[in-house]
Amino acid sequence: MKAIILAGGFGTRLRPLSCTRPKMLLPVANQPLVDWCLKTLSNGGVDTVILAVNYMAEALVRYLGTTKYDLGLLYSREQRPMGTGGPLKKAKDLLTMNEPFIVMNGDVITDFDIKRLVDFHKEKKGLATLAVVEVADPSRFGSVERDYEGHILRFVEKPEPGKAPSNLINAGIYVLEPEVLNYIPNSGKVSIEREVFPILAKEGKLYGYEIHGQWMDVGVSGDYLRANALLLARNDGVRSEKAKVDASAMLLSPSDLAEGVEVGAESVIGPNVSVAENVLIGKGCRIENSVIFSGATIGDYTNIKNAIIGENAILHKWVKIESGSLIGDYAEIEDGVTLTEGVTVCPSKTVGESILNQRQVM
Ligand code: GDD
Ligand code: MG
Repeated sequence: MKAIILAGGFGTRLRPLSCTRPKMLLPVANQPLVDWCLKTLSNGGVDTVILAVNYMAEALVRYLGTTKYDLGLLYSREQRPMGTGGPLKKAKDLLTMNEPFIVMNGDVITDFDIKRLVDFHKEKKGLATLAVVEVADPSRFGSVERDYEGHILRFVEKPEPGKAPSNLINAGIYVLEPEVLNYIPNSGKVSIEREVFPILAKEGKLYGYEIHGQWMDVGVSGDYLRANALLLARNDGVRSEKAKVDASAMLLSPSDLAEGVEVGAESVIGPNVSVAENVLIGKGCRIENSVIFSGATIGDYTNIKNAIIGENAILHKWVKIESGSLIGDYAEIEDGVTLTEGVTVCPSKTVGESILNQRQVM
């Protein structure tokens, strides 16, 4: 069976983080997001994956090549973003026209078995079957109304607060019959969620299969940190064989310190921390529930909690980064600065004064 991964650009929240890599190479538990997606598909009985890319495609091709996890990998490159529907039509010639295929949003992390979704699809004989999952706040997603047989009666993308048909949402993984491509207009940007699913629902050809267990959209920083923690926990314990950790430092499980990482005296790292290659952490630091990208430097006595630190960023001494804050690649945070409540610092910016409310430093 074939699958298409929609490997487009960054969702808005994480976009300022990195200017040097496509979203699918974002590390989650020290492994690029795309690897986790490919593993889910490979375990789900897929043999060929088409990566639909519009942004920094070369980096992805260079990293993945033509095969991984027993999957053949093909690339379909867009000149300009074609939305979530256009890329499927564009990849038509790479698909097999007499069998269904899978579509996966490239920012989804889940542990459910795709084979069950495929079985359900074959049993119901609709044109499209969506994996659906229950969430507390459906307004950020595509919300569905589903009957007891699994028919989706209504599909509303990004419903206004209070107007969602239910708390069941589109999980971003579908099985589609090739006929669905006929519902996608020929050119330009097409949103499958806004332009195709509502029509299929009206025609009674759209089904929803509810999944239970782990599901996250890492496009949002809170979910990104949650996904990181979840995948770290799967590995179980602390991994730091290739790091140089001072004997008086403490590593709390689960955490993962990559090759070339150094940790100074009396620092406490973890739980739920992944530190990428060659990050230097000084003495007396405290880092928890955070992701540190490669090459970053963390000065002595700096605290990081619930935050994301970009590639080669420099945090000097006595810095505090907290509560969903996000430091872009190559940014620099000076001595004693506190950033909290979801402050975003864009790449290469320098911050010399504390910011205590949600703001973007551009
Ligand atoms: N190739 C390509 N080209 N991919 C794209 C493009 C594009 O122009 N635009 C978006 N994508 C990819 C994104 O990279 C992402 O992997 C996926 O399509 C979905 O886009 P998002 O921007 O992340 O959408 P969303 O999270 O707001 O909503 C979607 O996902 C939700 C589940 O996480 C919708 O499908 C919702 O209905 C769904 O609930
Ligand atoms: Mg998303």
